[in-house]
Amino acid sequence: MSETLLQINQALQHKITSEIKQKGAISFAQFMAMALYEPGLGYYSAGLNKLGEEGDFITAPELGSLFARCHATVFADVLKQLRHPVLLELGAGTGQFCFDVLLALDELQVLPEQYCIVEISADLKQVQQQNLEQLPSHLRDRIQWLDRPPENKFDGILFANEVIDALPVEIFRCHQQKYERLMLSVKNDSLMEQWQVFPESMNALLNDLKLDLPDGYRSEFLPQLDAWVQAITANLKKGMVMLVDYGYGRKTYYHPQRNSGTLVCQRRHQANFNPYQDIGLQDITAFVDFTAVAESLELAGMQVIGYTTQGDFLMDAGINQWLNPDDDYAEYYKLVSEMKQLVLPEEMGEKFKTIAAVKNIKSTIKGFSNNRWNEL
Ligand SMILES: C[S@@+](CC[C@H](N)C(=O)[O-])C[C@H]1O[C@@H](n2cnc3c(N)ncnc32)[C@H](O)[C@@H]1O
Repeated sequence: MSETLLQINQALQHKITSEIKQKGAISFAQFMAMALYEPGLGYYSAGLNKLGEEGDFITAPELGSLFARCHATVFADVLKQLRHPVLLELGAGTGQFCFDVLLALDELQVLPEQYCIVEISADLKQVQQQNLEQLPSHLRDRIQWLDRPPENKFDGILFANEVIDALPVEIFRCHQQKYERLMLSVKNDSLMEQWQVFPESMNALLNDLKLDLPDGYRSEFLPQLDAWVQAITANLKKGMVMLVDYGYGRKTYYHPQRNSGTLVCQRRHQANFNPYQDIGLQDITAFVDFTAVAESLELAGMQVIGYTTQGDFLMDAGINQWLNPDDDYAEYYKLVSEMKQLVLPEEMGEKFKTIAAVKNIKSTIKGFSNNRWNEL
């Protein structure tokens, strides 16, 4: 490990343990929030090369432009129904999706009036600004960075790829017919797991999930999901929300056999299950309970109109149209292999899901002819 990485890792570990020594045990969600987003030190905040071939993991927009081009064709139908539409992207990574989707929408001649990015990481915001500088000025001038979703009413589309999996989760276990919450304390300067009863409000949230789980079962949940969805959709007057991530409907998520949860860490394209190693240097994520996402969207006044796998969504959106065997062979081969990674079930096609919800617009959206309602 390089000197700089070691320094980041040690400084963050010190910050977390000092916080616990001063204020008492913290929940796993508080630990995850610091490990990922502590200003200047967290995984997403410390200037490390996270996304892409050279980083720790690859997201769909980083594979090439097919993912964004498919979304552009779906977005275009919605944008045409709106006056002065805004496209709002949450957690834009390197800005690659924004780059490719604006170029594709320009080709379709259906540009949003503004493209707003809400990005929690100051470091990634800088990367996005640098990369998006390369766009032609009539596209670049539409992009704005906001600290939070728009404070005035707007019509438009909200989009997030692989953001919900990066929101800090609480870890619970079932113990003697009750839920207990994973807390972290410090012993001899090392983090130590301990279990405590949940505060009443969180316990009520867990009870609302109506899970029937055996003693010893351990998993995750996202207590702040309702508040997050409420915050991003509060001022959306007309339009669509589309969220893409890896996850399942609730029955599969909390399947009795998945009894140690879905938390996974990533470093240098290797997965591991120990969130306490390489703190600040590895990504920590949990799969998404899409039933909970659908419930949060409905609670926020949206109508959920689509839930399907990424593979089916992209096929339905016409991903084939950009593959032309008469093109230059190298280019054709590159696109075929990109498409395979996006849609094949054993690659990203089944694990990733897309959910869409609308408000005050037509409820038929391209991409969802094969809805998986029975899985939600
Ligand atoms: C796994 S990366 C995905 C990046 C990008 N969407 C992509 O597909 O390549 C997660 C992104 O979400 C951002 N993020 C996490 N929590 C966020 C929040 N509450 N609001 C906005 N951005 C957030 C991270 O900083 C990062 O840019």
